[in-house]
Amino acid sequence: MIEGENSSFSGFYKKTISERVDLLSARVGLTKEERMSFEQGLSMLQADLMIENVVGVYELPLAIATNFVIDGKETLIPMVVEEASVVAGASKAAKIISKYGGFITEAGPSLLKGQIQIIPQNLDLTVIKKIIESSEKTLVKRGNSLVPNLVKRGGGVVSIGVTMISETRVGPMASVDVLVNIGEAMGANIVNKICEGLADEVGKLTQARVNLKILSNHLDQRLAVARCQISTSSEDLSLEIAQRIVEAQVFAEESVDRAVTHNKGVLNGIDAVALATGQDWRAIEAGVHAFAAREGYGPLTKWKIEGDWLKGEIKVPLAVGIVGGITQFHPVVATCLKILGVKTSGDLSRIMAAVGLAQNFAALYSLVGEGVQKSHGKLHRRKLK
Ligand code: MEV
Repeated sequence: MIEGENSSFSGFYKKTISERVDLLSARVGLTKEERMSFEQGLSMLQADLMIENVVGVYELPLAIATNFVIDGKETLIPMVVEEASVVAGASKAAKIISKYGGFITEAGPSLLKGQIQIIPQNLDLTVIKKIIESSEKTLVKRGNSLVPNLVKRGGGVVSIGVTMISETRVGPMASVDVLVNIGEAMGANIVNKICEGLADEVGKLTQARVNLKILSNHLDQRLAVARCQISTSSEDLSLEIAQRIVEAQVFAEESVDRAVTHNKGVLNGIDAVALATGQDWRAIEAGVHAFAAREGYGPLTKWKIEGDWLKGEIKVPLAVGIVGGITQFHPVVATCLKILGVKTSGDLSRIMAAVGLAQNFAALYSLVGEGVQKSHGKLHRRKLK
């Protein structure tokens, strides 16, 4: 693994575990308890409070990817992953990218949609749609009254609309779509609470039978974007390698078989940060793949050559939270969030997008060259020395 020459993390991979923890502690100011959390992990008691029928705690390696410069800020990336070369690949890609300005990122508002499924009994779908639209203000107000703390923090129900599903094998139905600005939480519980709380009123207003009341993991309105560029006339990247990377990109655009693997590489990075920070990675996976399939399944990243630059971009929906869920009480998760220094859920999603883009660059760089088996082999041999 290669680290930034000027960084105190240079040669991080050569240090012992305890030297790495010392360096990390010095950089982010870890307490004794936070350091201990790496060794002790989740206790049986804490695990027993999380899910049912607990018999143990399952461990995975936690590592730190180095060299990331995200929006001008050096960022250490905690990653939990079982696959060798993922952390090394991310760090190596980030080192190259950091020489050319690092990652520039953005994140939209934390929007999450809930759905109330209704089955018409007396009224037509078009009439139902009109009723909901003309009652939107009242329903939004009622929805917000169910989550006063969220409203106090600046979030709450943003809009309520209707998607008509007129022809199905069980007759017509509709989705009453409740869009919520969820603030810093992932938001599943809050959105479910709002949908359940609005269900009776929606049923009464529309004279319809209410069936499901649940959030949607289709996250097309919660996008994080990361961009980077690398000079094609540099020791890091020749024009020929850049052109091969673009060919690999186009391969993923044209072949679903390839796009799925391309995206798996992106998710190697995103999922590893999701695990380290206690996110619902199944929700992330479901949302990401639906987004990748919005116009026929395709790659989440885009690489192109412009002038002397290879430019990369990722656009990815990420429903992540830095409060609620296990973020508060899982000792390692809390420490990982501290290492990242995130203040908002948007910060976390921007970082995850950057890691996904770095991971994709690392994979493509390796694939257009000697191939992953050879480079993984080299890394392993170095580790075993
Ligand atoms: C392996 O975990 C990920 C890769 O297959 C991704 C890719 O092919 O782009 C190397």
